[in-house]
Amino acid sequence: MKSHPIKTILEKQSTGETLTVNGWVRAFRSNRFIALNDGSTLSNLQCVVDFEKFEESLLQQITVGAAIKVTGTLVESQGKGQSVEIQVDSIFVHGTADPETYPIQPKKHSLEFLREKAHLRVRTNTFSAVMRVRSALSFAVHQYFVQNGFYYMHAPIITGSDAEGAGEMFRVSVLDPKNPPQNEDGEVDFKQDFFGKETNLTVSGQLEAETYAMGLGKVYTFGPTFRAENSNTSRHLAEFWMIEPEMAFYDLDANMDLAEDFIKYTIRYALEHCAEDIAFLEKRLLDEEKTKPQNERSEMSLIEKLKFVVDNNFKRVTYTEAFDNLRNSKPNKKKKFQYPINEWGADLQSEHERFLVEKHFKCPVILFDYPANIKAFYMRLNDDGKTVRAMDVLFPGIGEIAGGSQREERLDVLKQKITDLHIDEEELWWYLDLRRFGTAVHSGFGLGFERLVLFATGMGNIRDVIPYPRTPQNAEF
Ligand code: 4AD
Ligand code: MG
Repeated sequence: MKSHPIKTILEKQSTGETLTVNGWVRAFRSNRFIALNDGSTLSNLQCVVDFEKFEESLLQQITVGAAIKVTGTLVESQGKGQSVEIQVDSIFVHGTADPETYPIQPKKHSLEFLREKAHLRVRTNTFSAVMRVRSALSFAVHQYFVQNGFYYMHAPIITGSDAEGAGEMFRVSVLDPKNPPQNEDGEVDFKQDFFGKETNLTVSGQLEAETYAMGLGKVYTFGPTFRAENSNTSRHLAEFWMIEPEMAFYDLDANMDLAEDFIKYTIRYALEHCAEDIAFLEKRLLDEEKTKPQNERSEMSLIEKLKFVVDNNFKRVTYTEAFDNLRNSKPNKKKKFQYPINEWGADLQSEHERFLVEKHFKCPVILFDYPANIKAFYMRLNDDGKTVRAMDVLFPGIGEIAGGSQREERLDVLKQKITDLHIDEEELWWYLDLRRFGTAVHSGFGLGFERLVLFATGMGNIRDVIPYPRTPQNAEF
C-alpha cells in the first residue's frame, strides 16, 4: 500500500480512511500513544495502539528514534492536541534505535550538543524546522529570479583567478604534498599540477557572472563558495552558499532596488509557506530570550521582525553620513566600540554596522558610496575620486547580509586601479576584455544564503542553519 506523508494526512485526509504511514518514533506514551514524525511537517501524527492486540516483543521495539510503518484507520481524536489520529491495525518495524545509545531523546538538548550529532540533529523539531525553511528560501530565490527575467548561471567552483580574495583561498592540487615538483627558483611548480597552473576553490562567482551578464543581460549564481579566513564567529563559515545576481545596464540605484525587493520577496515567501515552522521557531527564540538579561532581549518577536523587514523601506545612507553618525554616537564618545571611529575612510566593523541598524536607524540599512580604499578593485569610482559605488545591506542581528556594487566599466580607470593595487593584469585579461568589447554600465551583489536563513529562522549561530558547517578545525561528517 502507498504510504502517506503526515503533512498531507493532517491537511487533507478525511476520517474513516485506511492509511499507511512511515516515520520515526518521537515518543511512545503508556504503551499506547505513538508520536510519529516523518519530516514532512513539524507536527507528529498520533498513532493509537491497542496493546492487547500486539506481541510484547514488538511493542518493546517501539522506542524513540525507531523507524516504523503503521497501517490503520484515521479517526477523530479523542484526546487534546490533535484533531485526528490513527487507530493502529498493524505495525512493521523498519529499524530499532537502542534507547541506551540513541542520542536524540525527547528532552531539551543544547545546540552545541546537537552540532556534534549533526547527522541526527535533523530529527529534532528545531533543526527540521530550520532545514525546511532553508529549503523553501532556496526555492524562493530561484522563483524570484526566474519570474524577473534572470538566467541561472553556474559559475565555476575551481577557479584559476585569484582576483577577489587573495590570501584566503583553499588550494586545489593533486601534487604530492610530501614531495612537490619545484621550478628553477625552488618554488612549487604548479605547471606540473592538474590544471597546469595554481588553482583554488572559488570565493565568489562574480567575475564570471559579469561575463555572462554582458551577454544574457541578467543572470544569477547560487552555489557554494569557500573562504579560508580564520574567522570563528557566529556569522562566518569556510563553506557557504552565495547568491550573486549580475545585471547589464543596471546602475547602483537599480541594484539597491533589486536587493531590497529580492530580500523582501524571499522573507515574504517563507512567512507564507513556512508558517508552522516559523511559529515554532518564534517560540524557541522567545524561550531562549527569557534566559537573557532584560536589556539584551529583542523588542520584537521573530514574526514581527520578519514582517517589519517586509513592510518597511530599507534606509539608504551614504558611508559619509553613517560615518558622521557613528563618530558622534554615544558608544564612540564613551569609547565603547572596540574599533573607535575617528578618521573618515575607516572600515566599518560589525559592531558599527549593528549600532547603525539596531540602535540608530532601527531598520535595515543600505550603506553606499564607500571609500575606495576599503573596497574591491572592480567597484566603479565616483567623480569625487575617493568613493566607489559600493553598497552593503545591513540587517538587525546579522550585520552585513549582502554586498555589491556598480562595476567599473571604463577600461582605462579599471586598468589604473589594477596597476595601483599591484594586481597582475595578465590574470584578468578576460575580465578586461569585457571593457574592450561592448562595455556598459552594470551592477550586481552577493547575498550570503546562510545569513538570510539565520535571519528568517531567528537562529543565533550560522553553524545551525547549514546541514554540515565547515569552520576552522571542523570538517566532521
Ligand atoms: O561581501 P562579499 O565578500 O562580496 C562578494 O563576494 C562579492 N563578489 C559579491 C558580489 O558583488 N557579487 O560576500 C557577499 C556576502 C556577504 O554580504 C555575506 O552575506 C556573505 O556573502 N559572506 C559570508 N557568509 C558566511 N560566511 C562567510 N565567511 C561569508 N563571507 C561573506
Ligand atoms: Mg562584503
